[in-house]
Amino acid sequence: MHTKLSVNINKFATLRNSRGGNNPDVVKAAVDAERFGAEGITVHPRPDQRHIRYDDVFALKNAVTTEFNIEGNPLGEFIKLVLQVKPNQVTLVPDAEHALTSDEGWDTIKYASFLKDTIAQFKEQNIRVSIFCNADERLVEAAKATGTDRIELYTGPYAHHYHTDKNKAIKDYILAANIATNLGLGINAGHDLDLHNLEFFKQQIPNLLEVSIGHALICDSIYYGFENTIQMYKRKLSTII
Ligand code: PXP
Repeated sequence: MHTKLSVNINKFATLRNSRGGNNPDVVKAAVDAERFGAEGITVHPRPDQRHIRYDDVFALKNAVTTEFNIEGNPLGEFIKLVLQVKPNQVTLVPDAEHALTSDEGWDTIKYASFLKDTIAQFKEQNIRVSIFCNADERLVEAAKATGTDRIELYTGPYAHHYHTDKNKAIKDYILAANIATNLGLGINAGHDLDLHNLEFFKQQIPNLLEVSIGHALICDSIYYGFENTIQMYKRKLSTII
């Protein structure tokens, strides 16, 4: 199965905001990423708009020609934004307002009815929904009942343990992915994926539909260049064992 690379461009906005002005231009970054091979563009507007701002999201909607994915916590303003912009996909993430970055998936049991109601609003507008999910069999099973189309496996713990024991690090993800597939849920993945750990993840989870990668990819671009780096990540997704 082909796995799409969605490039998270939040870090361009972080850099821009550090100086004011419009350098780097996030819309140009998205268009260039697509020209260099990205098969999707991801943004994660947060309530404090400290990196991607709400006006960026509207501008990007008109510029992105691949797949536009908006991530975030579905609270008032975010829901309104997504329903107005109508991206190809919304990824729901339970991040606390001032969290540095997302660090866990949904408790799909505790938040079952909240997720069900929220997801229904997006589905009504034909927006595909994915929910951020830990690699936990019970939580994946409960995800199915929310009405989501896909889960995005939170790969932070995988990345953290990859260098000590990659087979142990991937174990729960294989189980979770098998359950998701049996339930008819599509599988995305993201967080802390990089040039070291991506290939093994893809090989072990062959029915992976999409990865969204930001931090490491942008860091690598400083050394290798944006175009070259996108191609390097794509090669990691296309090696056949
Ligand atoms: N997926 C989700 C839900 C995220 O919140 C993030 C970070 O914004 C990512 C993927 C990408 O993670 P990273 O920046 O570590 O590649």
